[in-house]
Amino acid sequence: MTSHIRRIAVCTGGGDAPGLNAVIRAAAIAAANRGWECYGIHDGFNGILFPERYPDGGVVRLTRDSVRGIAHLGGTILGTTNKGNPLHFPLKMPDGTMRDTDRTNEILEFFARKEIDALISIGGDGSLTIAHALHQKGLRVVGVPKTIDNDLDKTFTTFGFDSAVAFATECLDRLHSTAESHQRVMVVEVMGRYAGWIALHAGISGGAHAVLIPEIPFDVDKVAAKIGARDGEGRMYSLVVVAEGAEPIHGHREILAPAEIGHAERLGGVGDRIARVLADRSGKDVRVVVLGHLLRGGSPTSFDRLAAMRFGTAAVRALDEGQSGIMVALGFPNVNYVALEEVAGRMKGVPLDSDTVQTGRDLGICFGD
Ligand code: F6P
Repeated sequence: MTSHIRRIAVCTGGGDAPGLNAVIRAAAIAAANRGWECYGIHDGFNGILFPERYPDGGVVRLTRDSVRGIAHLGGTILGTTNKGNPLHFPLKMPDGTMRDTDRTNEILEFFARKEIDALISIGGDGSLTIAHALHQKGLRVVGVPKTIDNDLDKTFTTFGFDSAVAFATECLDRLHSTAESHQRVMVVEVMGRYAGWIALHAGISGGAHAVLIPEIPFDVDKVAAKIGARDGEGRMYSLVVVAEGAEPIHGHREILAPAEIGHAERLGGVGDRIARVLADRSGKDVRVVVLGHLLRGGSPTSFDRLAAMRFGTAAVRALDEGQSGIMVALGFPNVNYVALEEVAGRMKGVPLDSDTVQTGRDLGICFGD
């Protein structure tokens, strides 16, 4: 099947992740090498929904020159947003209330008007759900899986995850020495939403003594017991890694801000809560470090950079082959394609029978259960 493509557009949506620029560059070059024009939409779909906000009309031409030298840079040259979901757009009504509106037709009209043949949507669950909806409405779409959280189904990993884990691991390495010098407990809170991938991988790699993840509800007394046991062996310091979405067996997840129309709830605060209890139970000095958005910044690791380039070029190849409604994914050994409907709205948590969890248990890491 031939694609008859002349023009494509690329957008980046949701929270940023190291590797976004490498995907943009790869897609733009692979498109240019086929004689296609490539355009970038600003800030998710806001460039289309609010063209008046942008000096260039909300969409920028991506040429070989304009994507030169960006593969190693964090962030996204196109900008992104996790507040501009066109499927659930908050529209202010005259009486001041907000109404949940679907603005996807404006996106379809834009593609028709500008004669852009296809979209490469780079994003996490939210963006891929939008991509799926646009595909169902007739747009040619290929998704690229991005998130530091690694919580997307049907792909071995998302780009951005390895960079986040590498940074968190380095932080744990640094915290070991100061924790030991002061005989303290350091509680390190990491992102990940409802999945514990970052906490698990960084916690094991960085030699944490307790790792608390959303998939295993925790009992803080078990963590206190682990710290006490270490003290009893003369190891007077401990490192506890906690995922922002972790929740106690008897209790609730810590929420910083509730969900709004088109915007998910914000998690955070579990580190502080655990620290207070651990200080109380152990009588030790406890400090909290929230890595937060530091995990999303900086250059992509070589693994993420390569994954991003493989994903970006594979998305263009898929369009060239006439495919649509799919996401490029990392299987082994090759990139493959999965239907967007198999990905949209599905979260991939840490499987409790995974050998990585077993590795942690065999190393004596406390999971709070
Ligand atoms: O999904 C990526 C992520 O960084 C989550 O780990 C985190 O909960 C969320 O985004 C934070 O988003 P915001 O940019 O709204 O602070």
